[in-house]
Amino acid sequence: MHLRLSLLFVAPLCLAAIVSAAPAVNAQSSTAQVAQTPPMGWNSWNYFAGKVTDKDIRDSADQIVATGMKDAGYIYVNIDDTWEGQRDASGVLHTNSKFPDMKALADYVHSKGLKLGIYSSPGPKTCANYEGSLGHEEQDAKMYAEWGIDYLKYDLCSFIPAVMMKQAPHDKVGQMRLMIAAYDKMSKALKATGRPIVLSLCQYGWDSPWEWAPELGGNLWRTTGDIEANWQSMYDILEQQKGLYSYAGPGHWNDPDMLEVGNGKLSLAENRTHFSMWAMLASPLLAGNDLPHMKPEIKAILTNKDVIAINQDPLGHQARYIYSGGQVEVWERDLKGGAKAIAIINVGSDRVATHPFHLDLKQLGLQGTQHAKELWSGKDVELADNMDMEIDSHDVRLLRIDSPK
Ligand code: GLA
Repeated sequence: MHLRLSLLFVAPLCLAAIVSAAPAVNAQSSTAQVAQTPPMGWNSWNYFAGKVTDKDIRDSADQIVATGMKDAGYIYVNIDDTWEGQRDASGVLHTNSKFPDMKALADYVHSKGLKLGIYSSPGPKTCANYEGSLGHEEQDAKMYAEWGIDYLKYDLCSFIPAVMMKQAPHDKVGQMRLMIAAYDKMSKALKATGRPIVLSLCQYGWDSPWEWAPELGGNLWRTTGDIEANWQSMYDILEQQKGLYSYAGPGHWNDPDMLEVGNGKLSLAENRTHFSMWAMLASPLLAGNDLPHMKPEIKAILTNKDVIAINQDPLGHQARYIYSGGQVEVWERDLKGGAKAIAIINVGSDRVATHPFHLDLKQLGLQGTQHAKELWSGKDVELADNMDMEIDSHDVRLLRIDSPK
């Protein structure tokens, strides 16, 4: 809510205008130590938001192990906003009463073989109006490292009015430079600690972060505003990923926001499609649901090893949108060893696509019948050129072809 207020306030000044001053990207930057495949884990915001406590984090870590999510690759347990207390006279930031001992919490999470993530802002305040890191970047980074933090989500929020608009009013390029410098500063502060810490940029995709974030050491960057647990929000975000595929790769990923699988009003088909497409997009897979009360069918989605293998494919090639037939979209992703993944989704609201959909293998660069595995049913299937496909509304067919012809 706080974010939306601040976005309304600054959006006209920031969005498209600050674009072309980005430095050239060197994707081989020093980000190569962490996030060689998209980070997997869980984050507190999408379910707990401002209510999250130390106990919720411990319970979630326990559940990640007990449900098999850890074995499936979920490693980061990330505390989002609202853990922060006040700074003391020496500028040291203390936790608030919901998090009595962060070092002890980190030790607990590490004892489970998991990693701990935390959240801050380059501005004076976070999006939920807690204490940010402005003017205390080195001090905070050092403290994170001392606690044993492994991942930082750094959320722009109040930096916009407090710094960008104050120091560079009416100067879009100047505002952009200030923003990039703020992320660069925290990146350097984290590196100076000597601890490998994933750096997650959260500035809602303003000013094409995919063009400049890798060079300053960003391992992932949000590409859009906040996701919500409904089809429209998930679909709107998916559509905004078309064209971003060339920016993703080992160590640096587009982030279409955390998963809403198991939250809100998403149907089972919608949960499947959401997870399939985030896997195809080489997106970080950060679950955001209530793990202690997770239903078996949601656990089955989040732990589908074949789907996760698409996401974690070592090539790190993000899926490309290929074509639409009626309301059916076809996306494709190249995988290691010449394999391919294909996602076919009915984005319409009808049970089947309004127009009969035929699979055009030639548009996917494929010749003749293909042998594939359907990753949600686990069945082997033959894909013939021009074959009819009926897909339920908002559902997906996710296919892996190991030896495409
Ligand atoms: C912003 C971010 C969200 C979340 C909240 C916390 O809205 O985009 O992901 O971190 O702030 O206040």
